[in-house]
Amino acid sequence: MRLCKYLKVIFMVLLSATIFTVTVHKVSYEHFKNLVNNSMVDHIFPKEPCACVERCLAASDDEWFAKRFRKDVSPVLALSNSILPEHIFKWWQSLQSRSTANYSQVIKELFSVVPGEEWYRDAGPSRCRTCAVVGNSGNLLGSHYGPFIDNHDFVFRMNKAPVEGYEKDVGSRTTHRIMYPESASHLDNNTHLVLLPFKTLDIQWVTSALTDGSIKRTRFKVINQLQATRDKVMVMHPAFMHYVHNTWLHIKSRRSYPSTGFLVLIFAMHVCDEVNVFGFGANSKGTWHHYFENTPKFFKRTGKHSGGIERETILELQKRKLIDLYTGW
Ligand code: C5P
Repeated sequence: MRLCKYLKVIFMVLLSATIFTVTVHKVSYEHFKNLVNNSMVDHIFPKEPCACVERCLAASDDEWFAKRFRKDVSPVLALSNSILPEHIFKWWQSLQSRSTANYSQVIKELFSVVPGEEWYRDAGPSRCRTCAVVGNSGNLLGSHYGPFIDNHDFVFRMNKAPVEGYEKDVGSRTTHRIMYPESASHLDNNTHLVLLPFKTLDIQWVTSALTDGSIKRTRFKVINQLQATRDKVMVMHPAFMHYVHNTWLHIKSRRSYPSTGFLVLIFAMHVCDEVNVFGFGANSKGTWHHYFENTPKFFKRTGKHSGGIERETILELQKRKLIDLYTGW
């Protein structure tokens, strides 16, 4: 009993000291969250606002959103957060064919080539970061969204999607290009590469593609020497991909996993204050194709992805005014 009382007093003293430190010395909200349980902090402090006039995503009071949005999940792999809990590691391994690579060694080699610090932990009352997530749908054609897309702080594009020749509809700026080895394309010096690691070999590939180019094949022949600025390369966290799979899409099947577009959308919601979405879904004739390809497909090709749940979730985000979805028509 006495021991219990004693511990209680120590806990109260520690808690008061932490709150005092946070208040007086303005220790960051993130740091404080690491010290004490998340929900407790959310209770003590109001959600973090931002400087945007339209909306501050992370500060939304929407209950549906709050059940899904977990601010504590790091979107980008860093030296300090690279250890994967066993259940996440198992899930990630289940997406790939058996890998014999040593994960810790792969991470060590990665961060000997690209920055190992955490990116984008800079949310706060003075930040208003607007982001355009640009998917590859043919519904962009004739939309005239180009100048509007270019007007965002960050413009996320995916895979090999070109801008040359389509500027009027898709814009010309790209701040981040999200890709995996099989969908890779060369980048200019100003664009961030965000690797989607669907397998351990993908991380090994990015390290190799920025150095000796020794990996020439993954699932098939891939670019082995990639033009990209090493300091601007980041890798989406496998635990973040698991969080999108589990918490946002509630996918039970081990065989399916989130699509590139959906992963990028949730990624943007974690690093931006305001998110606008373009180039997702079919065009007005129900055609599901890429804006840069001349081979319209009249069926919804979502492959291993849970297209239905993704679509419903995007529409729900739009309905709740958490994002703006621009469908071109
Ligand atoms: O086809 P690809 O994977 O390169 O497209 C990138 C993303 O763009 C997809 O994951 C999807 O979210 C989005 N997309 C779409 N509708 C299309 C084509 C692509 O929503 N017709």
